[in-house]
Amino acid sequence: MRRNLVIGNWKMHGDIQRNQLLLEKIVDGLRELNHADYVVCVPNIYIFQARALLENTNIAWGGQNVNQFEEGAFTGAIAPHMLTDLGCTYVILGHSERRNLFFETNLTAAARFDAAIRAGLTPVFCVGETLEEHEAGLTEVIVASQMDAVMATLSDADFAKAMAVNMVFAYEPVWAIGTGKTATPQQAQSVHQFIRHRIARRNPDAAAKVRIIYGGSVKAHNAADLFAMPDVDGGLIGGASLLADEFIAICQAANSVASSTCLMELT
Ligand code: PGA
Repeated sequence: MRRNLVIGNWKMHGDIQRNQLLLEKIVDGLRELNHADYVVCVPNIYIFQARALLENTNIAWGGQNVNQFEEGAFTGAIAPHMLTDLGCTYVILGHSERRNLFFETNLTAAARFDAAIRAGLTPVFCVGETLEEHEAGLTEVIVASQMDAVMATLSDADFAKAMAVNMVFAYEPVWAIGTGKTATPQQAQSVHQFIRHRIARRNPDAAAKVRIIYGGSVKAHNAADLFAMPDVDGGLIGGASLLADEFIAICQAANSVASSTCLMELT
């Protein structure tokens, strides 16, 4: 049985005062929701603040990216052990904004994935096609190449490590991020199922266990329908994670929609 997972990706938003208000409201709103997992990924500089306000709650915190090196002369970079030092348990990797605006590639994303699992962090590995690729019917080709970039680099021992830290995949169609255009539940389901089959080629047991969450304009009004899909195990939430009421409502949807218990048919 997979538990739903909701992750707020604050991106480059917030300040000490607003963060405090938002986190306090979220802590309050999620207190009784025990049937799913909740995470907020805040800007690195506010991880201390997140830890102070989220310790001993049912909300975990994480980073929005991490470097692949353990330490050294890498100005501006954050190493995996720095995130774990501050109690982070999750890290988002390969987000399309990192790929498109900061020139990260499948190769660097895969190296960071490896570094994250070695440090014991749960990687949330983002994949997804652009609008042009979507319109050209290339969704599965693109998603497969992004998935394979990671899967191919993992030895069997690393794959076991990735399972031990409960690796997560996030399907985030780039055309849906921050645009207000959401994939339909059926579109999301179809790509999530494709991703699960891709993992199953490596390890069918793992495929049934890995959580695959959807991101791209998830809001309070569409979350329940998305999360009701059998292979959609929650959401990666950008804009709506900055609004306490919206985020709480999305978490409530994840909490009340039981995640899929049935194993998909592996053909
Ligand atoms: P959005 O962002 O919810 O604002 O579309 C999602 C994301 O980028 O993770």
